[in-house]
Amino acid sequence: MTQDELKTLVGQAALEYVVPGEIVGVGTGSTVNKFIDALAAMKDRIPGAVSSSNASTERLRALGIPVFDSNEVGELSVYIDGADEIDGSGHMVKGGGAALTREKIVAAQSRRFVCIADESKRVEVLGAFPVPVEVIPMAVQRIVRQFAALGGSAAVRLRDGQPLITDNGQQILDVRGLRIKDPLRFESDVNQWPGVVTVGVFAHQKAAVCLLGTAAGVQTLTY
Ligand code: 5RP
Repeated sequence: MTQDELKTLVGQAALEYVVPGEIVGVGTGSTVNKFIDALAAMKDRIPGAVSSSNASTERLRALGIPVFDSNEVGELSVYIDGADEIDGSGHMVKGGGAALTREKIVAAQSRRFVCIADESKRVEVLGAFPVPVEVIPMAVQRIVRQFAALGGSAAVRLRDGQPLITDNGQQILDVRGLRIKDPLRFESDVNQWPGVVTVGVFAHQKAAVCLLGTAAGVQTLTY
């Protein structure tokens, strides 16, 4: 099976976790796009979604799925999103699509994080994928130096030769060269650095379940 087919498989499998009659939290990325497409088939059984990015909002609305502001609704039963990496405890690196801040907000608003990923995302130790960090532009160079002191090499993410600007009007640093053996501590520490909006390690908002797409089918991992 191709990676794209594995993404389709887990996107469809995630429908089982959507609670009829309840609003669902929706992440961002190519795997989530497969989920959104599948969700259209049950749109009459849910009031709608809370979305983690402008891109997902657009896709949901185009399929006729209402999107609610996160402040209009209370706790969500489930949040469904992809990951760039997931370890054996359900800790993740996320933000390859630059949506990490809103993803973490919607994940925090949800009782259960269901991660959908193909098997290439499963790792022993987080950090081979460059860790995305959303930052306030005036703090960029100081934060680059702080990562250098940890052995990481941070670079501003560019789009068309210019710093990429997130849905929140900030920039993204991608940090290479880290091996994150204690994700909870790393997330807590980096969150304290002035100018950091969100670090793309999801350890406090880790997955409860991962639907992993493999050649043998969907594996359900629980943490
Ligand atoms: C976006 C994310 C995505 O969940 C992550 O990048 C995985 O994306 P894809 O499903 O396209 O591989 O965190 O900010």
